[in-house]
Amino acid sequence: MKLLVVGSGGREHAIAKKLLESPQVEQVFVAPGNDGMTLDGLDLLPIGIDEHARLIDFASQNDIAWTFVGPDDALAAGLVNDFEAAGLKAFGPRKEAAELEWSKDFAKSIMQKYGVPTARYQTFSDFEAAKAYIEKEGAPIVVKADGLALGKGVVVAETVAEAVDAAREMLLDKQFGDSGARVVIEEFLSGEEFSLFAFVKGQDFYLMPTAQDHKRAYDGDKGPNTGGMGAYAPVPHLAPSVVDEAVETIIKPVLEGMIAEERPYLGVLYAGLILTADGPKVIEFNARFGDPETQVILPRLTSDLAVNLDDLLAGKSPNFTWTSEGVTLGVVVASEGYPLAYEKGVLLPAKTEDDVITYYAGARFAENGRALLSNGGRVYMLVTTADSVAQAQERIYSQLEQQETKGLFYRRDIGSKAIQ
Ligand code: AMP
Ligand code: GLY
Repeated sequence: MKLLVVGSGGREHAIAKKLLESPQVEQVFVAPGNDGMTLDGLDLLPIGIDEHARLIDFASQNDIAWTFVGPDDALAAGLVNDFEAAGLKAFGPRKEAAELEWSKDFAKSIMQKYGVPTARYQTFSDFEAAKAYIEKEGAPIVVKADGLALGKGVVVAETVAEAVDAAREMLLDKQFGDSGARVVIEEFLSGEEFSLFAFVKGQDFYLMPTAQDHKRAYDGDKGPNTGGMGAYAPVPHLAPSVVDEAVETIIKPVLEGMIAEERPYLGVLYAGLILTADGPKVIEFNARFGDPETQVILPRLTSDLAVNLDDLLAGKSPNFTWTSEGVTLGVVVASEGYPLAYEKGVLLPAKTEDDVITYYAGARFAENGRALLSNGGRVYMLVTTADSVAQAQERIYSQLEQQETKGLFYRRDIGSKAIQ
């Protein structure tokens, strides 16, 4: 079969590469993808993720069995709805189900209604009311733009003044446009964060290994929040009983709730969790795979992803299997300056082979040749599987030391929390 993946980052590289490994798959197109993906035999399709009609035409004219939709904005824009309306299969939630991600107020109301543990909250569109609530609750407190804001719409405020400023910027100064027309203000939770992913169809779900992202730009969790600078899976110091508890108190009730709301879920559900003294609680839901978590989760899949998803879409029971050996760890290499302003066009080192995978996020070929140049904030990621976090770090960091990374930077402590 021929498949289409929508998106262009390292996440989509990992998904598409895994799909192409299947003996059942002859070709995987990525729209729009990035040039680095072609080194793994993927075919780029120069169509933007918002060009629904062109994507649909391509899929129907080229015998695409189904399409995997990666990014949150494509899901929120109803790309899956449009594919289905055209009689095509797509793996990802419809717009109504993806609302779990694109409206934090909706996600909170579902959690409240179905008893899913999460931080206490209230939603506001009026600044004075928000300010009064913050003053009543005190700090620390968390202020979140309701809609999608490229991961930048969350302020963990240490003081009342900081929280009031954040609410003012979102509600009055329209810092995030319509995404901040409403704000969710919630209780600050403390504990260790981890991510739990599942392939979902209705109430059936298939858990993936746990993963931990590193969102801050610099070592020691310093600096601004980014899309994610590195990850590892599974999280070795997380007791299996915590995952069991999260399944019972979070995954099952939310999926049942979505069915009761007539918004049955299909796709990858990403639960961003925090292990508090009262057990795991939800920080946020995403309606898609995480980036860079996907790049450390999918290499651990030992079954055939294309067959598994084909089965799931056909209403059959898929048999997902995962290795239980060792740990998979990856370090993101980003452009100097990211997540703020950065330069593009830095010459990239050669793609790694064998036990270190290179996934590309922001890469393009030079105009006059096959040399790869940087073309985004997050540029590429090195991923390996080893017996321990320490061994994986050693392998990745010695590889990075041999690479020319001038104009680029990476964190040197990915996974270190797991070995402290
Ligand atoms: P989000 O975009 O909702 O994942 O939030 C970004 C980050 O803000 C999370 O990864 C947490 O580190 C932090 N955060 C969000 N909500 C809370 C909360 N209620 N308590 C503590 N930290 C939070
Ligand atoms: N790694 C965080 C995200 O994908 O949202």
